[in-house]
Amino acid sequence: MAMLQGRRILLGVTGGIAAYKSADLVRRLKDAGADVRVVMTRGAEEFVRPLTFQAVSGQPVHNSLLDPQAEAAMGHIELARWADAVLIAPATADALARLAHGLADDLLTTICLATEAPLAVAPAMNRIMWAHPATRANVDQLRARGVHIFGPGAGDQACGEVGAGRMLEPLELVDATAGLFGSSLLRGVSVLITAGPTREPIDPVRYITNRSSGKMGFAVARAAVAAGARVTLVAGPCNLPTPAGVERVDVETAEQMLEAVMARVDAAQIFVASAAVADYRLAQVAASKIKKSQDAMQLELVRNPDILGTVAGLQVGPFTVGFAAETDDMHAYAEDKRQRKGLDMIAANWVGRPGTGFDADDNSLEVLWEGGGASLGPAPKLQVAEELVRLVAERYSDTVQA
Ligand code: PMT
Repeated sequence: MAMLQGRRILLGVTGGIAAYKSADLVRRLKDAGADVRVVMTRGAEEFVRPLTFQAVSGQPVHNSLLDPQAEAAMGHIELARWADAVLIAPATADALARLAHGLADDLLTTICLATEAPLAVAPAMNRIMWAHPATRANVDQLRARGVHIFGPGAGDQACGEVGAGRMLEPLELVDATAGLFGSSLLRGVSVLITAGPTREPIDPVRYITNRSSGKMGFAVARAAVAAGARVTLVAGPCNLPTPAGVERVDVETAEQMLEAVMARVDAAQIFVASAAVADYRLAQVAASKIKKSQDAMQLELVRNPDILGTVAGLQVGPFTVGFAAETDDMHAYAEDKRQRKGLDMIAANWVGRPGTGFDADDNSLEVLWEGGGASLGPAPKLQVAEELVRLVAERYSDTVQA
């Protein structure tokens, strides 16, 4: 992970059970070439002894704001200046609240106020605490202030419950931390992305959907975070983990996806529509399971809203990138979509062919814009996404400067 080579990471450890994983995180960050210093809160020391972090980091652990000896060695201002990035993992609900309110009553919170380095937090707490409106408001406030929120993941929790609130695994955090030092092509730019399929209900047990896995859209989200963007991902039903540093909004139907997009589009400078949105939905969803009493049956379908077209048609809208999934005449159909919908860019791919498009791990894209184009891949979707993000960033900065 070349992006972490020689980087100075200040790791803040707060008092949650996930603190035991942070010792491994230090090792993994060091394996990636980073220089790591650890700051522990008093609560963290209840879970893991400072000696553990001293052993794995090879450096003294910092834990006191008011210890003259410690301050004389490397005080809070020196630590704040030393860091290329501050990562707090685990970040408890209490730590998030104290950061959101700008408290500076211990060494870690004081460093967070005194540093100009990027700050990232990896929340870890019980799922109900994570869902609590107070925590939501604190996280929103931190995010609005430019703090990177890594995770949390979902699954079994130490408290015996199952849900969102687990700290991301050390390797995922290393990946996300490296993203802080990725290219700065989209530094500070807000990117809104749709991904995956939509699911249009027929009755309480059946629905219409398509073969999209979400892999392409999630890869674009990862690549945009690595390029420094603030990323919101509106995802249809996908069985994929949320990329670190991404705010994810889960939806099911095209109408829900449109609503989620329109609620966030004003804050976005770039919109990328990689979702495979169902073009039609049922005119009437049956309230009860439809019985198989007839040999044949007809379903009446009506058109779904065109999310991409709606965003592209806004008077003051973001730089808009569409996708085109084609089985024939890809170039001609994609160029027609680009012009008809008034898009800044379109990324066309073949579907219905093995090894590319829907659900495949690799993809090829033909990217078209006014007066130009580029072919990307075949390559793994993340690599194709990184190249697409580079093209989008170039074209976007041209339009901003024009
Ligand atoms: O998810 P994967 O398994 O990784 O597969 C990736 C992919 C093949 C789904 C992806 O690369 C892709 O091509 N996404 C767009 C699929 C699609 O719906 O294409 P389309 O040609 O039907 O639609 C054109 C564009 O309009 C797309 O940007 C689509 O998001 C958008 N659209 C379509 C219909 C609609 N009602 N609203 C929309 O916003």
